[in-house]
Amino acid sequence: MSCATESHAYVIFGATGNLAKIKLLPALYQLHCLGYLAPGVKILGCGRTPHERDGWRDEVRKILSDSGTGTGSCLEGFVERLDYLIGSLQDAAFYQALGNWIGTGECARNVIFYLSLSPGLYVPVTVGLAQAGLLAESNGWRRVVVEKPFGHDLQSARHLQHALNTHLEEEQIYRIDHYVGKESVQNLLVLRFANMILEPLWNRHYIDHVQITHAETVGLEGRASYYDGHGGATRDMIQSHLLQVLALLAMEPPVSLEAESLRDEKVKVLRSIRPLDITQLASHAVRAQYAGYHQEAGISPGSHTETYAALKLYIDNWRWRDVPFYLRTGKRLKERRSMVAVRFREPPMQLFQGTGAATVHPNWLLIGIQPDDVVRLEISAKVPGVETRTRQISMDASVGNPGERKADAYEDLLLDVIEGNRSLFLRYDEVKAAWSVVDPVMQAWAEDEHPPLQYPVGSWGPKAASQLFGKAGQEWRQSLSCNGEADVAG
Ligand code: BG6
Repeated sequence: MSCATESHAYVIFGATGNLAKIKLLPALYQLHCLGYLAPGVKILGCGRTPHERDGWRDEVRKILSDSGTGTGSCLEGFVERLDYLIGSLQDAAFYQALGNWIGTGECARNVIFYLSLSPGLYVPVTVGLAQAGLLAESNGWRRVVVEKPFGHDLQSARHLQHALNTHLEEEQIYRIDHYVGKESVQNLLVLRFANMILEPLWNRHYIDHVQITHAETVGLEGRASYYDGHGGATRDMIQSHLLQVLALLAMEPPVSLEAESLRDEKVKVLRSIRPLDITQLASHAVRAQYAGYHQEAGISPGSHTETYAALKLYIDNWRWRDVPFYLRTGKRLKERRSMVAVRFREPPMQLFQGTGAATVHPNWLLIGIQPDDVVRLEISAKVPGVETRTRQISMDASVGNPGERKADAYEDLLLDVIEGNRSLFLRYDEVKAAWSVVDPVMQAWAEDEHPPLQYPVGSWGPKAASQLFGKAGQEWRQSLSCNGEADVAG
């Protein structure tokens, strides 16, 4: 993050919604306290709930102090920046009022419109802003941030892009994927490109397969209408977050960290993903629902929406040809854990076979994304003693030092919007390529009359997900720890 930024207005649509309360306002608050917001920066909340300015400030003060983050003069300085505008997003008068609020002062040159709204409102709001002349850049900038999902399939993403492009230049659109803003996900780039030791091994000659897991213990958390209607684990997590992680893991070194160089490399990976063979879908894709899903409020009877999805993907390029990438995600699973597990190939000869250390385990590189932000390398070592026995040991590194503050993904991303840095935001061709990967699967599942498999709440998902490996002894990695037991006594 760099120094304090230019004056601007941050306009949050959907300011009384959950995302604004738990992520956006706390992130802006942190940026304020860390000195990243210029003195003139104003933050306007827009919503349908009536609030006077003072009432809104009180509410935000309460949100921040209840969460334990906001205190003292920092909090008071932050709430001084806040204002609120009530109105209906369908009403031209609202955009006129917004234009009056933005006015013509110093702050008016640069404005960010954050659409923390249901995706169906992206176009009407953009049209409203355009018709009121609020998107025109005269002697400053106007930027629009849209949350995922960008469309609900390839075709709807195309329509959305066309509609936004009618009123906005591509440089004005910030498609946010908060997962990419996580420190541990950004660390994938640093691990790969600020170190020499991985690169020679980072290819089909040394890597057997890669697993990317995002497991949650939570369920729908009041989002049934979004999730059951337009979501499902594949759309909600794989199309966006997990394919981004895959792209960062598999991409070639970019020419620079400039937005276009980085995104050029990511999109190449996404485009190289081999289309899934729909006639053999069961051996490449698994969907499931947790038991009791239909009893949740707001779920349509007989819904086939998957709360768990796992895919086996191949990247058809020189580096990765025939190396499977396994992606899985699910709700109501046993643990909250997101991680990358890279399994290396076995040594060409099992030299220790005759000695009693019959099975030498493969090496793993494990990268914890959350809750543990760690990097671990699992290797075989000799157990002390006269016999030749081996066991797995792990070389560990916590990424942060004790006492170091970890920035929330939104802090980084909200600051990037202010600074006009689009590296971590998705370009339209990335989104399009990601939909092309998952669309055929979702279509095949939509046409399948069989209900999804079921898995018990608190489990690791359906057993069938293990069959994706199709190789004896291969399984999902559920944890970052190796058990440290000796393999075979000599
Ligand atoms: C969101 C999904 O994009 O990411 C949610 O819509 C999911 O369903 C969330 O729970 C996971 O992100 P995080 O940062 O909470 O792990």
